Amino acid sequence: MSLNNPFRKKPIEAYSDDIKQSQLKRTLGKWELTAIGVGAVIGGGIFVLTGVAANQYAGPALALSFILAGIGCLFAAFCYAEFASILPVSGSAYAYSYGTIGEFFAWFIGWNLILEYMMGATTVAVSWSKYFVKLLHLLGIQNIPLYLVNDPVSAKEEALKLGIEAPAFAINLPAALVVWLVTAVLVRGIKESARTNNIIVLLKVAAVLFVIVAGISYINTSNWQPFIPERMVDDSGMGHYGLPGVLTAAGIVFFAFIGFDAVSTQAQEAVNPTKDIPFAIIASLVICTTLYVLVSLVLTGMVNYTDIDLGAPVASAFGSVGLRWASLLITVAAVVGLVSVMLVMLLSQTRIFLNMAKDGLLPQKLFAAIHPTFKTPWKSTLLVGAIASVVAAVTPIEKATKMTSIGTLFAFAMICVAVFILRKKQPQLHRPYKVRYLPLVASLGFLFNVLLMFSLDASTWLRLLLWSAVGIAVYFLYSAKNSRLNSNHS
Ligand code: ALA
Repeated sequence: MSLNNPFRKKPIEAYSDDIKQSQLKRTLGKWELTAIGVGAVIGGGIFVLTGVAANQYAGPALALSFILAGIGCLFAAFCYAEFASILPVSGSAYAYSYGTIGEFFAWFIGWNLILEYMMGATTVAVSWSKYFVKLLHLLGIQNIPLYLVNDPVSAKEEALKLGIEAPAFAINLPAALVVWLVTAVLVRGIKESARTNNIIVLLKVAAVLFVIVAGISYINTSNWQPFIPERMVDDSGMGHYGLPGVLTAAGIVFFAFIGFDAVSTQAQEAVNPTKDIPFAIIASLVICTTLYVLVSLVLTGMVNYTDIDLGAPVASAFGSVGLRWASLLITVAAVVGLVSVMLVMLLSQTRIFLNMAKDGLLPQKLFAAIHPTFKTPWKSTLLVGAIASVVAAVTPIEKATKMTSIGTLFAFAMICVAVFILRKKQPQLHRPYKVRYLPLVASLGFLFNVLLMFSLDASTWLRLLLWSAVGIAVYFLYSAKNSRLNSNHS
């Protein structure tokens, strides 16, 4: 094999060596893994994006949008589960592609997973900051300077809305600080992180169940009529409602599902990865889809879709029926709950980097350095935390959200292709979990995710292209030269 053949593959057997050599502690059981999935999934999507999706695009049919997005993710989840059962390593789609399609492709996927995890954590940090500020307001702390809780662009927009002078300088301080809080927990270690995560996930699921149970008696079924509002086009030419609107909303609430695949990045810390990882991936997705659909029905039943609040829709729905205490409770739950999303995303990012570094595609000294006491990749965790906090401090939420989505959709589409190729090329591999009707499932998964990519705007595509160009440059300038496959196969 030539030194720089971008299609060279990591031999499947090499993964067993990686698993044996792993210095990470195996502490996670099947429900802890599921909790990691649920912890990564329920977050800004359900607490924030439901507002704009129902109000602008789907109306009461928001529940249908969640079902559509959930089904699309489920196809990808099945493929992830099969891969995770064959290769129980912590590199997620990156590791799977390296063993099947080739090094360059794997690098490219890994590069896009940075958008999913690091940019995803950044997006959630910015949402967290909004809820945190809302909480301060609810507690009577007003007059927080705009320049301390907004990125520069949003600070200008806010100032314009309020009719005050725009600050010369602005930084989203709460978003930056919360990233550091999570980073500190992660450096301490996986067991502590998992325990913290379990508590937060419980709180978050309890809050969502509370919304469903407490909200049911406030449903006014006339708010569900018409279930799919008639299609209309506004003055700017933007379409709303109708079936296309339900699809657009599905594209928006897709963000709410991002994270279930984070389970697959925990394989080296799982007690029984081949069985428990597929279980946890599918279980967390099914649990979240069910909760989302129920919350959507309650939300659109409590408040007419035309009146739904765009900032904090779920909390405000309770305020609007006179339950101010419930509104406060939900805001607190969101503030606490979003932390667990960041926890899992940043954790996953460092585990993918660890994998890439072990393969020689990233500098080992930085990304594969394991702390002697905590047994965590501490240097990488600190670096990821530093970058995420800086980006969270200065980036508007829409930009971060779209970049997260396009990178994730791309990774999902590729994983569907990769699992199919591996089944064809190496049918003899032991597959503790095997997808039924794989050609159909993989094709639908691929098509669905690519379709959603095309629902995103041109500027997001442009940023993806720029990001990819940088990734390709890094690959040829560093990774291809330092790959461990060079010494194995030259
Ligand atoms: N699914 C995660 C959220 O909604 C990313 O916050």
